Amino acid sequence: MRIVRSITETREIVSGWRQRGHIIGLVPTMGFFHQGHLELMRMSVGTTDKTIVSLFVNPTQFGAEEDLDVYPRDFEGDCDKARGCGADLMFCPEPGEIYRPGHQTEVSVAGLAEGMCGLDRPGHFTGVATVVAKLFNIIHPDYAFFGEKDFQQLQIIRQLTKDLNFSVSIVGVPIVREDNGLAMSSRNSYLSESERQDALVLHQALQLIWRRVQKEKDAADVDDLRAQAVALIEKSSFCTLEYLTIVDEQSLHEVSQVRGRCRVLGAIRVSQRIRLIDNIALYR
Ligand code: PAF
Repeated sequence: MRIVRSITETREIVSGWRQRGHIIGLVPTMGFFHQGHLELMRMSVGTTDKTIVSLFVNPTQFGAEEDLDVYPRDFEGDCDKARGCGADLMFCPEPGEIYRPGHQTEVSVAGLAEGMCGLDRPGHFTGVATVVAKLFNIIHPDYAFFGEKDFQQLQIIRQLTKDLNFSVSIVGVPIVREDNGLAMSSRNSYLSESERQDALVLHQALQLIWRRVQKEKDAADVDDLRAQAVALIEKSSFCTLEYLTIVDEQSLHEVSQVRGRCRVLGAIRVSQRIRLIDNIALYR
């Protein structure tokens, strides 16, 4: 596996692969790999001829009060894991390589980025959309793989791909969970053993809604479903709810009836410090 820091060298390698007719997959990441990342890499390796994993802790998607400076990092471990999955290249640029001095251009996706995490983290999705558009322009992948845990991000990336005419297929990969149901996330490394237990309340609240929808189908009342799940989270002494909402998957608009492709998404803060998100499709 090649480890490359420069855009020019990455482009040269990709252009050689393209001339040989290879199909190229991109797995954009911010590192500190867990099984969720490895699943994305395995999917790419299984679908394409050449897999590029980008590792870039993108400063523009972190708010001033957020965890950019302490974001977990393990460069050597990440290289070993990506190599173990069969990745062909890790693209690991320095911030100055991606954001050249004097850069002024941003990509923002209007409607989809407004609610949920967009409200709690102003500017976050503009940072994500900008860096993802840059990665698409640098690599020109045929496929790009993103986890469904960040479902709002996934839909925003689908929209920007369509709106900016990128010729890449976006593949959403189901959430990988710990045995107890906790959605895997690099930020889980901030949790103590007891906080890991506390954090489970989000998954339990989402599951509660899922179970009721399976049982009651169209008759399930959205306000009532939501109220029950919110009450469960509010009982927890260590977790604060940021949002919990049932939306249509395409528009991300809140629904008044659970019909068609709906999904429940939520975010909590554990011990006031650690923000975790999760979601469940309500139609499976
Ligand atoms: O999901 C992530 O890890 C990041 O938001 C992404 C897509 C790599 C952009 O920095």
